Amino acid sequence: MSQQTTPLPAPRACPYAPPAFYTETRESGRPQRGEIWDGSTPWLVATHAQVQQVLMDPRVGADVTDPGFPNTDAGQAATQGQIFFRKDGAEHLPIRRILNPDFTAKRVERWRPRIEELVDEAIDAMIAEHERTGGPVDLVTAFCLPIPTTAICELLGVDLVDSPIVTRAAHLATDMHADPDEQIAAMRELGAVLTRYAEDKRREPDGRLLSRLVNDHIDNGDLTFEQVVRLGGLVIGAGHETTANMLSLGVLALIREPEQRDQLLSDPLAYAATCAEEMLRYWSIVQTEPRRFAREDIEVGGETIPAGDGIIISLAAANRDPAVFADPDKLDITRTERRHMAFGHGVHQCLGQNLARVEMQAAFPRLFQRLPGLRLAVPEEELRFRDTHIVYGLHALPVTW
Ligand code: HEM
Repeated sequence: MSQQTTPLPAPRACPYAPPAFYTETRESGRPQRGEIWDGSTPWLVATHAQVQQVLMDPRVGADVTDPGFPNTDAGQAATQGQIFFRKDGAEHLPIRRILNPDFTAKRVERWRPRIEELVDEAIDAMIAEHERTGGPVDLVTAFCLPIPTTAICELLGVDLVDSPIVTRAAHLATDMHADPDEQIAAMRELGAVLTRYAEDKRREPDGRLLSRLVNDHIDNGDLTFEQVVRLGGLVIGAGHETTANMLSLGVLALIREPEQRDQLLSDPLAYAATCAEEMLRYWSIVQTEPRRFAREDIEVGGETIPAGDGIIISLAAANRDPAVFADPDKLDITRTERRHMAFGHGVHQCLGQNLARVEMQAAFPRLFQRLPGLRLAVPEEELRFRDTHIVYGLHALPVTW
């Protein structure tokens, strides 16, 4: 490793703040090079304005198979090379357009009553477990994972809620230190299950997303059968780990800062939405992405990023940019400035953001309304954060009440 470059992703010194190198890069006002696992030195971009600029620039690519793309690990190009989310232009947009209608704010709103039911069911199960065992309960497995996993599986039309295949595939896909062979094997296993589902739905359509993909978009040449299966895997994977980690971190923040929790409970209808947005901004859980590369020389913050160089965006640093957010390190669930980029920005902005929002809006107030005495069951210092994962979060959150 060279003398001056900082390894990326840089470690967090404090679990509640972005890594110091990211904040320093933002404060310097210029992108800086860091060094990734393969010895290459992509640029870190960290101010709010520069992140927006780069993510909107058509000269910046997202194709994981391009030699300039800064891979998270040795297996990334092999496991993700065929996924539309890691592609540009004609290989990305038409597929995104097929998926968009299922994830509009209006369409997701129809799922809200069901999501509220899922929240209550998860709380009922937690209470039963607590009574049975005398506590504590791990909030991650009892509450944070079941809600988004069930929601995304129902939306897709597959019954894989309790399937270890799903959990393993999603977990390995987001672990930057996972063995690439294991990652590939887990994706294949998930692909095999989804293939069976897709075949069944070809015979017996049920109107859910997977069924519509397989019946409405293969014969007309929009998608191949393999693409449909891959999309199913992507939607399940992206749709549950992300939101699950937002739920656990959000609950932790509300336990740590009881005045914020009280504010939320003082008027849940008024604050559920701003609370969800603030949690998204404050935690900015996608900690090693978005990743891109420059197709041409581009000018960012007075620096020239040469064609072919990799770019890593720090959403966490951008979302704490004082140029946009007053007192940015403070958690304030009444904050009304909504220009955070926790869901990214530009053409790859998160497909599932409306779903994730509704899940958080339903979960945070309801959990504390039903369990007002909810507290940590271990000292805070014992909590283990997911430092090596693409998506930041908690391995477990032992709670009691
Ligand atoms: C893209 C964050 C939930 C599906 C993204 C990106 C971010 C993000 C930052 C942009 C990546 C990039 O530009 O390279 C989050 C967060 C979530 C969440 C913080 C939860 C709180 C979901 C859910 C789904 C989903 C529930 C379910 C469908 C996707 C997909 C993309 C994406 C398919 C790729 C979109 C494209 O390339 O066009 N997400 N996400 N995400 N997300 Fe999410």
